[in-house]
Amino acid sequence: MTNRITISDASRHVGETVTIPGWLHNIRKSGKIVFPILRDGTGLMQCVAVKSALPEETFETLKHLTQESSIILTGRIREEARAAGGFELDVESLEVIQKVSEEDPYPITPKEHGTEFLMSKRHLWLRSQRQNAIIRVRHEIIKSVRDYFDNHGFTLVDTPIFTPAACEGTTTLFECDYFEDEKAYLTQSGQLYNEANAMAFGKVYCFGPTFRAEKSKTRRHLTEFWMVEPEMAYADLEEVKRVAEEMVCYVVGRVLEHKREELKVLERDVTKLEAVLQGPFIRMSYDEAVKNLQANGSEIQWGSDFGGGDETILTKQFDRPMLVDRFPTAIKAFYMAPDPAREEVALGVDVLAPEGYGEIIGGGQRIHDPELLLKRIHEHNLPPEAFDWYIDLRKYGTVPHGGFGMGIERAVAWICGLEHVRETIAFPRMIYTLRP
Ligand code: 4AD
Ligand code: MG
Repeated sequence: MTNRITISDASRHVGETVTIPGWLHNIRKSGKIVFPILRDGTGLMQCVAVKSALPEETFETLKHLTQESSIILTGRIREEARAAGGFELDVESLEVIQKVSEEDPYPITPKEHGTEFLMSKRHLWLRSQRQNAIIRVRHEIIKSVRDYFDNHGFTLVDTPIFTPAACEGTTTLFECDYFEDEKAYLTQSGQLYNEANAMAFGKVYCFGPTFRAEKSKTRRHLTEFWMVEPEMAYADLEEVKRVAEEMVCYVVGRVLEHKREELKVLERDVTKLEAVLQGPFIRMSYDEAVKNLQANGSEIQWGSDFGGGDETILTKQFDRPMLVDRFPTAIKAFYMAPDPAREEVALGVDVLAPEGYGEIIGGGQRIHDPELLLKRIHEHNLPPEAFDWYIDLRKYGTVPHGGFGMGIERAVAWICGLEHVRETIAFPRMIYTLRP
């Protein structure tokens, strides 16, 4: 038995005969030599099969293999500067697990396909080098986010998916039947439970899927997305901003450190990511942002939320992320603490990613006064009985506290430099996308 390896490990096996299980990515033929390109999920390996060096049957089988046929190749690894990964495999033997039928060939060929077609074949499209690179960067982002919180005294506490009430407005709730006559809603955010957990543990975070019935088709919205949410007892808005900035820098640094190859596949301009780490993030109040937008051609008036276009205008002006704070209280969630110096604005912050990407993080300081909280629940027409427990948190040892949520897909889109969030998750869910 020869040593079974992955393509990513090839550099450690130069000169050895090894076995690599994978799929036929592509094949180039030139008379008495064929060049199969093997794909194994960790990379691509150009292989060389010479007719005179192989049993006739092996050579013929290889020559007629079809794209994405599952095969196990055995051969010797050689350094080859001109090959994509820097190595080549001289084929010695071949085992075919399945030959893809010539009558029903693999539908994604090396030619260009439209996005709609590719989305309908998402289960296969994930095998492409580009999609593979994106998902690997996503993995690093998730891993580094978790490392950041784990290394800074946060305890991971999971929050429920079925919830009895809204967190982020009632218009985007997904409702489901929950036994007898009860309704449940898929969580929009773990925040409210995080607040209870922060009073029990000090600093916590949750990481999980969140759901919003977003009815518009945009390049930034999914109906199911993953969010990481830290929450801290005894933290004010400034502390929330500090942690958000430090975490984003840590994540970008880790991707630059560990995922250079993937960024290259994605043709990401890494100098844009390096610039993020060159100095403090831009800090701007909502008031200043509105003035800036008006001066740059936006129709926005004080009091309205930014449109996607506004975020693009703002973030194209700077090469580092922006922290925009103190939005009008009226357009923010019921739990946002008002600024004691100016009740009409809330102690909330959004982090906007540069290059036109826009909001990746939303958060801020929460109301910790029980009376004010109850008043807001009424003003927002929320059912007070569903929030009994939440008000309890303000009755039994209430403290100023805050946190934020970062949408993983938005962060992946920005860091990878993608047009649309649909490529940032293996199986995206959007208003018209439920399959595959
Ligand atoms: O700004 P949002 O709505 O804030 C919250 O949910 C807070 N409860 C978080 C907290 O303070 N713990 O959402 C937070 C982030 C956004 O900045 C965005 O990155 C992402 O979640 N997000 C979405 N991502 C993809 N598709 C959607 N439909 C999203 N909605 C929000
Ligand atoms: Mg937001």
